[in-house]
Amino acid sequence: MRVPRTIQYVERAGVIDLRWGHPAPATLPVRAWQACQDEALRRYSWRALTYGRAAGPEPLIEWLCEHLGGTDARAPVPAEVFVTAGASQALELVSLLLTRPGDTVVVDSPTYHLALRIFADRDVELVGAPADGAGIDPPATGALLRRLRAEGRRVPLLYLVPTFANPTGGSLAAERRRELVELAGDAGTMIVEDDAYRELGYNGAAPPSLWSIASGRGVIRVGSFSKTVGPGLRLGWITAAPQLVRSLSDRGFVDSGGGLNHTTALTMAVMGYSGRYAEHVAAIRTVYRRQRDALTTALITALGTGLPAIDVTAPRGGWFLWLPLPEGISATELLTHAEQHAVSFLPGNRFYATPALDPAPDDHARLSFSMYEPAELAQAAHRLGAALRAALDGPLTPGRHG
Ligand SMILES: Cc1ncc(COP(=O)(O)O)c(C=O)c1O
Repeated sequence: MRVPRTIQYVERAGVIDLRWGHPAPATLPVRAWQACQDEALRRYSWRALTYGRAAGPEPLIEWLCEHLGGTDARAPVPAEVFVTAGASQALELVSLLLTRPGDTVVVDSPTYHLALRIFADRDVELVGAPADGAGIDPPATGALLRRLRAEGRRVPLLYLVPTFANPTGGSLAAERRRELVELAGDAGTMIVEDDAYRELGYNGAAPPSLWSIASGRGVIRVGSFSKTVGPGLRLGWITAAPQLVRSLSDRGFVDSGGGLNHTTALTMAVMGYSGRYAEHVAAIRTVYRRQRDALTTALITALGTGLPAIDVTAPRGGWFLWLPLPEGISATELLTHAEQHAVSFLPGNRFYATPALDPAPDDHARLSFSMYEPAELAQAAHRLGAALRAALDGPLTPGRHG
């Protein structure tokens, strides 16, 4: 009998596939969610299943306000919160509201590759911001924004993931955060801050968001329950100026549909207020910290001998390790060898907005450690070491392609 396909992930027999930024199945809180859903239906009865409030149900918004006051430097007020069907939809809505085809959107270099696709769907031109090993470079980005404006271009948005970033795992330093908020304000460009990984810090709390540094003005912050509870919920939020929240609430389809994910939002409110969310996030942080440590330690061992020196840095949060490759080996080239060794990853050039004539840097591999157990991650590191040795030995011969 054919097993119906239900999920995005496609298993490849024997391959340890570090391309996927998906949660570890064992971390998904099936029983806790079921209990919260039962409780939400008991508490809200038919109100849980009818059309909801456009900006999202008050119980979730009020809990989020309180919760974000604890995980960030500034708590929003309810008028600053809009509930969405995930961070992806939030990005789609923001670009729908604030961009027109032909606009220019500036994005971090590198940055979340699928956000690039969401913006590209609006027929905007994507321009990579200048950046170095510490993230986006504010003075150079300020100069870029001024140049684009001088060329007569509209630059409504600047997108980045400043905290436990996808793909680098890094977080922007406090001084750069302040500079960036100031220069975007001066340029009249709205910052879109993707804050999906804020709660997955493994060496202490996340830094204050750009949104909090900017006192909630000039920055739209996008959050998600995908990484902390489960991506199948399709539940996230925006914190932004009340005027923007009103504009989103006034969209015809939001009004027509009665909010974007009402029933799930009410269950999430129960999970938040009951303390189950805090308990769950503390538990998964331990799981992901262990997975990060397993991959990092195994990479240091596997890449430590017989290869040029490679700087393996453990990310302080999030789901990704950004591995620099030795000179002369591109990630795309390494991938061919890695696939031969039954391990996979995403090459660095996937994470840049770069014009076709100016090839994107391809000197890093993004390794996702979210989905696999420590022993499998150690095995992945071992296979990557073998693949790298093979890549340094020379190109694949036709006979070795398999
Ligand atoms: C930086 C970033 N933003 C957004 C998303 C997607 O979030 P959601 O599932 O809430 O749409 C991801 C998922 O990988 C991500 O890494």
